[in-house]
Amino acid sequence: MRNIILIGMPGSGKTTFGKAIAERLGRPFIDADDYLEEKEGRTIASLFAISEDAFRDAEERTIRDLSEKENLVIATGGGVIKRRASIENLKKNGHIFFLDRDAKDIASDVEVEKRPLLKDGPQKVYDLYQERITLYRNAADTIIGNHGTKEEVLEKILAIIE
Ligand code: S3P
Repeated sequence: MRNIILIGMPGSGKTTFGKAIAERLGRPFIDADDYLEEKEGRTIASLFAISEDAFRDAEERTIRDLSEKENLVIATGGGVIKRRASIENLKKNGHIFFLDRDAKDIASDVEVEKRPLLKDGPQKVYDLYQERITLYRNAADTIIGNHGTKEEVLEKILAIIE
């Protein structure tokens, strides 16, 4: 079975919905950032401390590796769309859902400590959203608005998969 892939901004709900989809479908859930840290033997923060490029290279390797597997539900890191090769690899073997959550909702409740790119405050969320929205839309097979209750959004996704 093809992989189910979630892309979107940090704080858009990729992990929450990824876990819920995996549970409902009885498929394994993979958080690409956790997988990267395990495979590379380094933390994301330590890679960013070298450079964003060092992190993106590791992310590209991780995505290449994950794209060779099947049947997974994968929550990607928010910047996966920055490398075209990563999106091409994901598409070869998966259906990409863009979880589109309003920047104002993300800014109001995102856990900034866990997200180095957002540490400069809420304005950074708006800037990143503007910078990336076209990339997310172009990469997506399906765009899912993350509005309403968790159940409603989950059902929207499952209706497309099933
Ligand atoms: C990033 C998002 C993070 C993580 C890294 C870079 C980004 O993942 O991959 O800090 O560029 O948006 P989450 O989207 O899970 O926070």
